[in-house]
Amino acid sequence: MTTPADPAPLPLQLEDIILTLPGADGPVEILRGVSFAARPGEIVAVTGRSGSGKSSLLAVAAGLEPVTSGSVKLFGEELAGASEDRLARARRGRVGIVFQAFHLLPNMTALENVAVALETADIAKGKAARLRAADALERVGLGHRLKHYPGQLSGGEQQRVAVARAAVVRPALVFADEPTGNLDTAAGSAVRDLLFALAREDGAALVLVTHEPTLAAACDRQVVMADGRIVS
Ligand SMILES: Nc1ncnc2c1ncn2[C@@H]1O[C@H](COP(=O)(O)OP(=O)(O)O)[C@@H](O)[C@H]1O
Ligand SMILES: [Mg+2]
Repeated sequence: MTTPADPAPLPLQLEDIILTLPGADGPVEILRGVSFAARPGEIVAVTGRSGSGKSSLLAVAAGLEPVTSGSVKLFGEELAGASEDRLARARRGRVGIVFQAFHLLPNMTALENVAVALETADIAKGKAARLRAADALERVGLGHRLKHYPGQLSGGEQQRVAVARAAVVRPALVFADEPTGNLDTAAGSAVRDLLFALAREDGAALVLVTHEPTLAAACDRQVVMADGRIVS
């Protein structure tokens, strides 16, 4: 008996997503029927005007914001309606998230903030975790800031720590919301190179929101949002 193997599930598959949130004058439809998928190794830029729903799309796709209706699948696993526990388990070690609020732990150094991601994901511990964390921080140009606390770092440096923390586990799916937004050219290139390497070298799917035309043009595919929909 030969049954063809199931094709490997896509890293990300969204179907007919509706997101309605309460607004001052009643419910507001933030996402209005969005379908979207990302394949392994694919780098997708999400662009569109401010308020078009880009950040909301990423939050839904990462399982951080529950959908009103529709299907959100990460690696074939349905997240719509899943418990917080299941969401956290679905993401752990496989999904890297770089959002505008960095959520670094204030009482840990840059090195510890990155190393803890490896420990939480059960990938490495102790000295091995610190060595890998140092390498990730060096790749974003922060080799000289390992022992600094978030409060001692500039906004752009904190952002790069957040990128290193997301990248260090070598996730198979990465979401980044304007990861180069507040960075100067050199720091922005270092961040882009590290994120792109996850896709080009490790086959991760990378979904990134950006306003920068050169960054968007360097991606494999561009998705344009307007008014809660994908328009091209
Ligand atoms: N928590 C929320 N409650 C109500 N409306 C929201 C909320 N978050 C975002 N919005 C609205 O949803 C729309 C899309 O926002 P967002 O996804 O942040 O867009 P973008 O990232 O493209 O700038 C905007 O009109 C915004 O005001
Ligand atoms: Mg946004």
